[in-house]
Amino acid sequence: MALPLRSLTPAAPDPILGLTEAFKADSRPEKVNLSVGVYVDDSGVTPVIPSVLEAERRLLEKAGSKGYLPIDGRPAYREAVRDLVFGADHEIVASGRSATAQTPGGTGALRVAADFLLQTGSSKTIWLSEPTWPNHPQIFAMAGFALRTYPYLDESGRRVDSDRMLGTLGSATPGDVVLLQGSCHNPSGVDPDPETWAATGEVVVERELLPIVDFAYQGFGFGLREDADWQAGLARPGLEFLVCSSFSKNFALYNERVGALTVVAADSGRAASALSHLKIAIRSNYSNPPAHGGDIVGTILADAALRVQWEVDLAGMRNRILGNRAALVDSLLAAGVPGDWEPIRRQRGMFALLGLSAGQVARLRDEFAVYVVGRGRINVAGLTAANLPHVVASVKAVIES
Ligand code: LMR
Repeated sequence: MALPLRSLTPAAPDPILGLTEAFKADSRPEKVNLSVGVYVDDSGVTPVIPSVLEAERRLLEKAGSKGYLPIDGRPAYREAVRDLVFGADHEIVASGRSATAQTPGGTGALRVAADFLLQTGSSKTIWLSEPTWPNHPQIFAMAGFALRTYPYLDESGRRVDSDRMLGTLGSATPGDVVLLQGSCHNPSGVDPDPETWAATGEVVVERELLPIVDFAYQGFGFGLREDADWQAGLARPGLEFLVCSSFSKNFALYNERVGALTVVAADSGRAASALSHLKIAIRSNYSNPPAHGGDIVGTILADAALRVQWEVDLAGMRNRILGNRAALVDSLLAAGVPGDWEPIRRQRGMFALLGLSAGQVARLRDEFAVYVVGRGRINVAGLTAANLPHVVASVKAVIES
């Protein structure tokens, strides 16, 4: 009998991480990788930020242990993450109506959220923004969800189309799950304004939807609290939702895989029940989380001086990205590249969507060695003084011919 593996044909490479594999194999000296969302400094290096270096030094000095963590992670880490997400004086913290579990990255949090919801009998339908991060549909489809999409951007691709977005969500079936990106929308960099968040909260309440907030970039856009403006719409008394946090970007801890899933329930009793089910979802998947990345984040958030240092480190990354946005727009305009570029200056987070066709994206890679994700999503952090002229000239060439 033929083994099932014998009939397997190769799967398509990952639409983001697969590009970095191709980039590494490219021998052209002018190559530029603007695909995966990883921060680099102006010399093209992804630094270990000073607060993380100091936390690691302290951890090394402590007589540690490599024993298992609890299924839901270290208690102090879980509390620190909750306070970071909401602010220590928030009603959700005071009421104790949330439960946080430590997870391997934000992706781990999303998968645990999916498993938890299906295992506790939620709707099997999830609504995703169109466009969204390409891994979102894969994570939720693999877990067993049926996927629906809501329109997100207007025709310009530079603004949220709140009427169409909210109109579509208004047709969702009560109980359906809706994935909302808290800030720094991936791939567009375009976020809802406060009025749209407030109206989203109304639709969620009216239609009895269950939001999952993917909060992977807290502090990477405009600031730790500024990037939490979604909470004015969603963090209302009684409203239940989930938050997936990632510390890959804001602590530059990409390969440590550190994140968290927070369930906000109507009251503390329901939060405790939710945690008991989260633990089953985790135990049946990866058993318990890796410790090192969480210990770094926990050490920083627990120490006043290290926390200040981290906020300085974070502001440094944020400001470089904002500077890159301005430099990109200025260069595109100065080069006379046809397009509506000015709004990119005021967008939030790592990404900008240039709005390129599949053919233009392929030409950027094949003719100019510039690697960008579908529709021309670029990692703005990957621009440097050295590569910007080549990137702009290449974009101009593929748009004009
Ligand atoms: C991205 O969108 O590039 C990042 O979130 C990294 C990833 O895992 O895709």
